[in-house]
Amino acid sequence: MSTGAQILQEKIDQALTGGGEKRIASQHAKNKLTARERIHFLLDEGSFEEIGMMVTHRSTDFGLDEQVFLGDGVITGYGTIHGRQVYVFAQDFTVLGGSLAEAHAQKICRVMDLAMQNGAPIIGLNDSGGARIQEGVVSLAGYADIFYRNVRSSGVIPQLSGIMGPCAGGAVYSPALTDFIFMVENSSYMFVTGPNVVKTVTHEDVSSEELGGAAAHSSKSGVSHFSCENELACIEHLKKVLSYIPQNCEEEVPRLTYTATDESRMALNDIIPDSSNQPYDMHEVISSCMDTESFLEVHKAFAENIIVGFARLAGRSIGVVANQPAHLAGVLDVNSSIKAARFVRFCDCFNIPLVVFEDVPGFLPGTDQEWSGVINHGAKLLYAFSEATVPRVTVITRKAYGGAYDVMNSKHIGADMNYAWPTAEIAVMGAKGAAEIIFKNEIKSAAYPEAKLKEKEAEYAEKFATPYRAASRGYVDEVILPSETRKKLISAMKMLENKVAELPRKKHGNIPL
Ligand code: HXC
Repeated sequence: MSTGAQILQEKIDQALTGGGEKRIASQHAKNKLTARERIHFLLDEGSFEEIGMMVTHRSTDFGLDEQVFLGDGVITGYGTIHGRQVYVFAQDFTVLGGSLAEAHAQKICRVMDLAMQNGAPIIGLNDSGGARIQEGVVSLAGYADIFYRNVRSSGVIPQLSGIMGPCAGGAVYSPALTDFIFMVENSSYMFVTGPNVVKTVTHEDVSSEELGGAAAHSSKSGVSHFSCENELACIEHLKKVLSYIPQNCEEEVPRLTYTATDESRMALNDIIPDSSNQPYDMHEVISSCMDTESFLEVHKAFAENIIVGFARLAGRSIGVVANQPAHLAGVLDVNSSIKAARFVRFCDCFNIPLVVFEDVPGFLPGTDQEWSGVINHGAKLLYAFSEATVPRVTVITRKAYGGAYDVMNSKHIGADMNYAWPTAEIAVMGAKGAAEIIFKNEIKSAAYPEAKLKEKEAEYAEKFATPYRAASRGYVDEVILPSETRKKLISAMKMLENKVAELPRKKHGNIPL
């Protein structure tokens, strides 16, 4: 080996060991992979090309001149996932705790810029103690450079964040600006202020896991979209999500080859219970209508009264939004509105058509909801649907009451095709509530008020709690048997394949945030 080649090899070996064998062992002891191992499992075998392996920091303060590591605690580059180009950065906790400073941030910015210029997804694998304390303000500047790029890239290329270890302080805002956050149970956490600060300020005793672990963020805050049991599951899930998404906002959605078979789904004819107050699981409707086992749920444990996720319909990626009658009767509230609005906007950014299954008794009443701003948050969903220009199809399975009827992708706010099952009840409110209000006096003065209420309830239900009033106005395009739903959806989506719709010229809208 020539001297030059030998020096190169030594440097590569040095870079490959990151912060050293001891710190790698400590990482493994915590059940964590190293940054290089993560990249290995993420990308197609042999596809990774590293950029900036020899980059080092330029600081000398607080002993940093004696702690110089090739790569500066982040591995950056590009490769492929299932043959498709992606850009990636993975923070290396074995080097100065994966802390972010000037050179580290510049490396991340470089791959973010390349991802934007070349129209491909950027994936960040975060594992960091936050701003490198010894470098001071340049660390904060580095974060801001990344945040700025996150925002510029938003809606242009997909941005995915894996949280594989600590992610604290302002560091949380880069993942929060990306499209999807994946967390690993029991070894990753995110918070703006950690347990010690919490204890000092609010006197609460809380562990890192309780405060900002995968469980907390997947079910309570909704910050994380996916909670995965270990790092490998997390990486596999991230790859799966990517398979539904196009490379950038100019591309069409991925499409698998599909051979048509019998598309009728007879079991759906029996899914709606006899009593309209009885729940059923909307997941069954979704899985029956979408390609076999293609439904990938997003935000599964958060605001379970609405279901959102990716699926395939005749091979083509679809976004599904569905009320869930099995949870809080499928009511719309603050969290479900936020969850669905965010998902609708993601799909619209990336040309992913939307299918909506509707069974909603209205918005959740109460002081808690009103004071939490259900007006603003509900408006987000209304705004998101109204603004979406992708093909949009709605199926009303049962209740479509009140304002929630308008919000859930109604014809009036731009849906392209609206179907209803014969069990659909499209009305201002439920028959009982309606009868109680409009026949109040008649019921009160009746000899048998209970019987009178029942009679009036039935009268209202017959007139309004059906799909036919809406169908007579063209608000519903067709009343269909449940068993025909899949066939109709495939046909409608094919018909809408070349849809062109533009928003009025503007700088940007003003969604009620
Ligand atoms: C420099 C850091 C570091 C940091 C960790 N290290 N965080 N070095 N800057 N921010 C170093 C440690 O000194 C140690 O070095 C190595 O990384 C591993 O850290 P440990 O503490 O041994 O690991 P562990 O016990 O697993 O604890 C991990 C941790 C803890 C919880 C993340 O390190 C920690 O609390 N770090 C500081 C967190 C923090 O306050 N960050 C600043 C937040 S403010 P050796 O040489 O011993 O291996 C912020 C602002 C961003 O981020 C604003 C953006 C807008």
